[in-house]
Amino acid sequence: MTVLQLERRIIWVSAAFALSLFGLAVLAVNLFNVGLPTCLTDIKPFQKGELITHSPTHYEIHYVARMWRFEPPDVEIPAGSVVDIYLSTPDVTHGLILLGTNLNLMAVPGVVNYARVRLDQPRDYQLICHEFCGTGHDRMATNLRVVNRTGFTPKQIAPSPQLPDPGYQLLEAKECLACHSVDGSQGIGPTLKGIFGRTQKLTNGQTITVDEAYLREAIVKPDAQIPEGYEDLMTKAELTDQEVDQMVDYLKTLK
Ligand code: CUA
Repeated sequence: MTVLQLERRIIWVSAAFALSLFGLAVLAVNLFNVGLPTCLTDIKPFQKGELITHSPTHYEIHYVARMWRFEPPDVEIPAGSVVDIYLSTPDVTHGLILLGTNLNLMAVPGVVNYARVRLDQPRDYQLICHEFCGTGHDRMATNLRVVNRTGFTPKQIAPSPQLPDPGYQLLEAKECLACHSVDGSQGIGPTLKGIFGRTQKLTNGQTITVDEAYLREAIVKPDAQIPEGYEDLMTKAELTDQEVDQMVDYLKTLK
């Protein structure tokens, strides 16, 4: 056998192999309804998590993966629904796996990934991050709750403020929201909801009432007085006096 013949054989075998793989992919999509993720680089990455109801059997969820949570959390949809999932991230690379299904997407900054899934059985699907994305990675999870169709009422997901308060914008820009929620949900650090006036136990054994002075110190010297149950993980943000004022003013409004 000459080299040329061998090469020809290799080309034919690889072409047949590639073609059969393509055929299998087509079969998987059409016969078994397996969704292949698609990269959508030409639309603006979503800035906030959202649940959109297209019809009682068709939903669309925009998941925003951030350090270290998924937005929106705890989405509820009725059994027997088709769900279009769009995933984006504003910070680092994350992953999204919907346990119990074959849905598996990457969250890559600047890219919106998409996949469709059909959920027929009422049960809680756990949604977890499968890319190591920092200290909170192991806690980055939420639920997609599939409930019985009878008695299902769509839950309203609170939209982010339309014209964000300058204090809120600062919290976002300085990445405070990566660890502190403003809606009461659990994070790496304590939630900021209702923080002003809260009775707070500290790691030094003291119990204090959160006032303006405490908030200021907690922002500019985060390691001074740490709330009980939390670790000294917070990094100091570079802020002007005016910015600290704006943050404190905003924190006071989070009832
Ligand atoms: Cu996000 Cu791991």
